Amino acid sequence: EKGGYEHFMHKEIHEQPRAYQDTMRGRVDESGKKVVLPDFHMTDEQIKNIRNVQIIACGTAYHAGLVGRTVIERLVRIPVETDVASEYRYRSPIVTPETLVIVVSQSGETADTLAALREAQANGAHVLAITNVVGSSIARDANDVIATLAGPEIAVASTKAYTSQLIGFYLLGLYFAQVRGTQTEAQVAETLAAMQALPEQVESILARELEAKAHAEEFSSQKHLFFIGRGLDYAAAQEGSLKLKEISYIHSEAYAAGELKHGTLALIEEGVPVIALATEQALIEKTVSNIKEVKARGGVVLTICYEEDAQELLKSVDSVFTIPKTLPLLTASLSVVALQLLSYYASLALGLDVDKPRNLAKSVTVE
Ligand code: M6R
Repeated sequence: EKGGYEHFMHKEIHEQPRAYQDTMRGRVDESGKKVVLPDFHMTDEQIKNIRNVQIIACGTAYHAGLVGRTVIERLVRIPVETDVASEYRYRSPIVTPETLVIVVSQSGETADTLAALREAQANGAHVLAITNVVGSSIARDANDVIATLAGPEIAVASTKAYTSQLIGFYLLGLYFAQVRGTQTEAQVAETLAAMQALPEQVESILARELEAKAHAEEFSSQKHLFFIGRGLDYAAAQEGSLKLKEISYIHSEAYAAGELKHGTLALIEEGVPVIALATEQALIEKTVSNIKEVKARGGVVLTICYEEDAQELLKSVDSVFTIPKTLPLLTASLSVVALQLLSYYASLALGLDVDKPRNLAKSVTVE
């Protein structure tokens, strides 16, 4: 059942190229230039009337929502907030009939997310679910569903479900942009072309997994580790940090790179590993100056970046792991694959049960 892999997590990491393709299949028209969502119930009128979006989820699905926020804001120019489900319900959320609530859940059974969905519906919101299980409670109760077609995910640590959720958000953002006219046809076509290239680009990262293994073995003996990034790199950093904590039990934190100097920099001393994501081209210079602040305090920096930036970055960092270039909007769907591999191999290096980490369950049905 593990298809020749030693662990489900490893198998599921490797299933991502297929999961990307399956999640896109049937949702891009024959010309390859337009998104179609055949089962979608929202009318164009309703989509044009959306005033704000609230994305609600837990854990890794919440981190997909952080990417979703930027995707929708950049493509559609609608204000979006993202919240963890267990907090959302208790802050008297302001919901109107023009609010679109998006719940994200791999299992479709997470108790907090389901309760948030019901709360939002009771307040009159249209609720759209992005889920991997079409027969789940969340899929049944939602007004609209975008099914991610990642296939069953067995490992407790979510990998292919997360990246398929990103594909779901890209498709949704493009679809709304088509309806509301916030992107030209050429822009939509360009993003779709870049999305079609993602599966092969993920393959090329997976082909270099031994490189990731070597990096993981280097930092796995450490007690603390930091992830930094800006923009979508920061969203990806948060997911990378959760993945590492969950299966390697190494304490890690993700910070917006520019926020370090407001307190956390005090924790950086000789030998502390820092994984810096530096793919957001428009912000790269600023990220590099934050990396230099870390280096000056003795931090050991591994950077996830594009090949073309590697040489320049190596002047300031200790090592790099490169990923293929994509559009700025899509970067997390590649960088996170590198982070998944780092966590997986750190867990193996420590001899831990990577598929069943302590204290955790695959589906969390208590609030
Ligand atoms: O099934 P869901 O997507 O609703 O689950 C949400 C979280 O419990 C889940 O993503 C959790 O954070 C993962 N174990 C992380 O790898």
